Amino acid sequence: MASKYLPAALRSSRRIVSQISRPQWRSFSATSQVRSETLAVHRNKPDNNPSIPFKFNEQNLALIDEILQRYPPQYKKAAVLPLLDLGQRQHGYCSISVMNEVARILEMPPMRVYEVATFYTMFNREPVGKFFVQVCTTTPCQLGGCGSDKIVEAINNYLGITPGHTTEDGLFTYIEVECLGACVNAPMMQINDDYYEDLTPESAVALLKALRESAQAAETGKTVKVPAPGPLSGRRSCENSAGLTNLKEPPTWDPEVFMRKDGQL
Ligand code: FES
Repeated sequence: MASKYLPAALRSSRRIVSQISRPQWRSFSATSQVRSETLAVHRNKPDNNPSIPFKFNEQNLALIDEILQRYPPQYKKAAVLPLLDLGQRQHGYCSISVMNEVARILEMPPMRVYEVATFYTMFNREPVGKFFVQVCTTTPCQLGGCGSDKIVEAINNYLGITPGHTTEDGLFTYIEVECLGACVNAPMMQINDDYYEDLTPESAVALLKALRESAQAAETGKTVKVPAPGPLSGRRSCENSAGLTNLKEPPTWDPEVFMRKDGQL
């Protein structure tokens, strides 16, 4: 008799079990959040608040006139990037007063200018040192040459600071950045507007020393030779560092045979 009712009992018990509510969640993973207040949050400080006046100088006003002529008058806000760049070059960084002045000139809501300046990492929202050092630590620079880890370590030791900080003498601000587009000359770093490539720990430190000496010598009117931008390895550009491996001889074929004789391409 019991066996007659067993299948029905199993069915109903399965139904009851399926109706018991179960927690509706599933696990997921995410990389750790990097919180950076300097990128997106403005807090008034004695040296960076809206009551500090900022005006473009005569030279930059002339440049702004020229830049604005590239856009129809109703779209002049398209010039927000070059104007922020000019403001940063004149003032040293993109202070709130620089952004407000750009907004006034371009007749934009200031918030729209803040959005642009905080989106693009090349705009510094805080003061930086005389030499703004950006060391690329993306994969090709990590793997190329001696590797960017060694460059970072050498700079940490020489400057006595870690990325994201400024030296006490105000000469160097130093950060790590993503690919700067010179991977073929890895590892590399950008200092102000210049690229220095094919770095070794020794050449990187020698470069920083020369920059420091040049800044100190400038106060006394002297000059110090600083390595020229580009590869510091002796390469002229991004040619094979082992030298020419092909096309070493002039062509052996007779141009008269292979080229058209009517002068046309
Ligand atoms: S990875 Fe460093 S420049 Fe591209």
